[in-house]
Parts: sequence; C-alpha cells; structure tokens
Amino acid sequence: MNRVYIKTYGCQMNERDSDAVAAMLRARGYRIVQDEEACDIMLLNTCSVRDAAEQKAIGKAGYVSHRKKKNPDFVLGILGCMAQNRGAELLDKLPDVDLIVGTQKFHQVPDYLDNLRAAREAGVPIGETIVDIAEEAGSQNTIRDHLETEERQISAFVSIQQGCNMDCHFCIVPKTRGDERSRPMDDIITECRALAQRGVREITLLGQIVTSYGRRDYAHTGGVSPFVQLIEKVHAIDGIERIRFTSPHPRGFKEDLVEAYGRLPKLCEYVHLPMQSGSNRILKAMNRPYSRERYQEIVDSLRAVRPDMYFSTDIIVGFPGETDEDFEQTRELFEACNYDMAYIFKYSIRTGTPAAVLGDQIADEVKEHRNQVLLDILRRNSERRTAALIGTVEEVLVEGPDKTGQHFTGRTRGNRVTIFDADPRLVGQLVPLRIERASVSTLYGELILAGVGTEAS
Ligand code: 5AD
Repeated sequence: MNRVYIKTYGCQMNERDSDAVAAMLRARGYRIVQDEEACDIMLLNTCSVRDAAEQKAIGKAGYVSHRKKKNPDFVLGILGCMAQNRGAELLDKLPDVDLIVGTQKFHQVPDYLDNLRAAREAGVPIGETIVDIAEEAGSQNTIRDHLETEERQISAFVSIQQGCNMDCHFCIVPKTRGDERSRPMDDIITECRALAQRGVREITLLGQIVTSYGRRDYAHTGGVSPFVQLIEKVHAIDGIERIRFTSPHPRGFKEDLVEAYGRLPKLCEYVHLPMQSGSNRILKAMNRPYSRERYQEIVDSLRAVRPDMYFSTDIIVGFPGETDEDFEQTRELFEACNYDMAYIFKYSIRTGTPAAVLGDQIADEVKEHRNQVLLDILRRNSERRTAALIGTVEEVLVEGPDKTGQHFTGRTRGNRVTIFDADPRLVGQLVPLRIERASVSTLYGELILAGVGTEAS
C-alpha cells in the first residue's frame, strides 16, 4: 500500500520539486518505484506553461483513474502547476482524483497521503478530494535537502527562488508559482556546503527568474547584485567545481554578471538567455523590457569576456499579431546568435494572461512553418558546432556509469553530454576528454589520463 510512482512534466524546477516530494515520502516510509504498473499511489507533477502540457497530464490522469475500478484503494494525485492553475475545477474532468496539491504545498503531500491511507485502512468511505492550492508564506524555504544518501550524486539542483513578478503577457507562471520569493542566502550556502560534503561537484541554481534573486532582501554591494553575491559565495565553497543557473532574464545581465564570467572560473560558460522574439514590436507586446539591439549587446558582451561562450534560448513563434516581418527579425537575430541549443515554442493561449484576449491570433499552419524555419537553423548550427568539437579536448565532469552501464558519462562545461570509458574512481573528477565522434546530442571520446592524479594510474 505504500508504493509511490511520481511522473514529472515540464521544467527542471518541477523535477526538483518531485525529487523533494520523493525524499519526504521516503522519510515517512513510502517506497518510490520506477514501474508505474507496480504502484499503489500515483502522483502526477504537472506543467501549465502550454496547453499541450496540461492536456498530456489530463489524458494520463483520465487513463490511470480506470485502475480505481479494479482497485478502489488506488490513490491518484495531481501536484504542481496545473493543480495550482486549475484547482478543484479539474474534478469536472477527473472526478476520481484523490489529491490536488499546488506549488506552495508540496511539503504537505506526506501528511495528505498518510491521511488517505489511514482512512482506507480503517475502511472509512472515500470522502471528498483533498484540494490544497493555498498560498503559504515561506514555502520557498520548504524545497531543500533532497539527495538520496545511498547513492553519490555529482550534480545537484538547488532552489534559490520561486515565483516571478515580470508579467510577460504570454506567461502563466506568475499564477502557478506566485510572487517572487527568495530563500535566505545563508540557507542556500549551508545547503550547498552540505551537498559538497556529500560529494556533489556541480550546482545548478534554480528559480523562475534567478537573476532577480534577493532583490528585495539584500542590497547591492559595490555595484554587485545579490544574485552575483550568491554566485561568489557558492564559488568559494571547497569541493564545488562548477556552477550553473537557470532561468535568468536578459534584464539581469548587467555589467556585474557579465564581468563575473571573467573572474569566476567555476561559472560555466553556458548561458540560457531567453529571447522570446527578435522583433521590438512583439517584445513590447509581450511586455519583455529589452530590445533586439540590447539582446544582441548582451550576447556580444558575454562573448567578449568568454569567446567560447555557449548560448541557448527560448523562442515563441506566432505570438498574437506576429507578422512575417516580425518573424524575419526573429529569424535574423536567431541566426546571428549562433545558439548551441534552443527551445522553440508555438504560442499557446493561456487563459488569464493578458495576451489571451488579444485579437489577431496566428493560424496554426503559420506557427508550424515558423517553428520549422528556426528548427532548421538550429539543426545546421548545432551540426556545425558539434563538428568543430571533434578532435578538441574538453573538460568533463565524470558523473557515473551511462544508461547501459558499459561506459561512463559526464558533461562538458558547455553542457554537452559525453560518453567514454573510465575508471569508477574518476567519478566526481574533472578530466580532459578528447572528442572523437558525435551523434545528434552526444559526444564520444577518450580520456586523456596523464596528469589527472594518482587515482587514475
Ligand atoms: N506559449 C508558448 N510558449 C510559452 N512559454 C511561456 N508561455 C508560453 C505560451 N503561452 C515559453 C517561453 C518560456 C518557456 C519556459 O516557455 O519561451 O521561456
């Protein structure tokens, strides 16, 4: 009765929240299982950013709720962004769901499951669905300390901030994740130190808008923003070798952050910089407070500090009113930035956002065409960039055995996945890897072990 299967939709923040729920449930004696057929409790941790993501989770929940006919004790829960966005209204489509828990209440999941189980064991008839999507002050501090103790993890996500106040007109996140709230710097540093002691070597700082970290809680010191101050503190932790963060806002790339790339070697030269559109008119309609010129300037300034900088981005095609000329501006800037990776989305109407009520929605075929144009550019770019890596030597952080268990895997500073042969003693070390060949998304190579240290010999 205590086997839990958690399925996660959406972003890294959701992955992080699912890990935290799993850790809390294990501490209560629940078993987390990987086989969805072999669970007593299924939790869907959902995404609302586009309609397709919501439909996927609703479809899954509808399908899974048939299991209740055979097994009335089976528990089905919907957690996270769609729970927050839709609340009890989900029961119109999914009357058999037992639990609906929003983004500020993940830490209550163990109590709610305990209550549901106790009721079933006592033979009490199943009552109302538990719906908890209330706001909770301080909830940003409840998502922490999630690692398994048995298995060494090399790379970890650390939540630093939740929510967003930017009010981009396409975006549902302010509704699903609430107002911007930052965790105290000391708490984050304590967590990072503990992770380093448990063997973690790479930290990814996570939040909906990390560059705004602590802006209401901490002062700038000597022109350095609280976010850069936080990076400096993580950088000073022994054992942490690499620092990444996601997602930032272009507005956060002021002089202090750009300059940080020049002086903080642990800060990996990979920046996810959401452009959304290359047309000033559309950026304005989206309520994105920068121009294409400013965006290009940020990219140039980062490449001036780190010529080997890798960039990825998010683009929305088919925002209401986007003309061929607007799209051409996006295409041009997209090409000019020479991205390593990009996430391209067709605009999806999100009820309750300002853009939802705009006229001049774009036809699906047009969105699809624009999507393909950018995907083609990305494919060519990425092939060219991959080809340029073959024969070079990249620093790789060895994470552990790959999926097959035959080889090892790790990522380059530019966040490319690599596969190679290694010794288990190299797990957690930074080693030089000569890149020999590549598939679409993976690099294959051979370690250059001379000078790596005694453990390698
Ligand atoms: N339609 C399509 N894409 C969206 N995104 C956010 N809202 C929407 C929407 N309504 C994209 C943005 C954002 C990413 C996480 O999802 O590009 O950066």
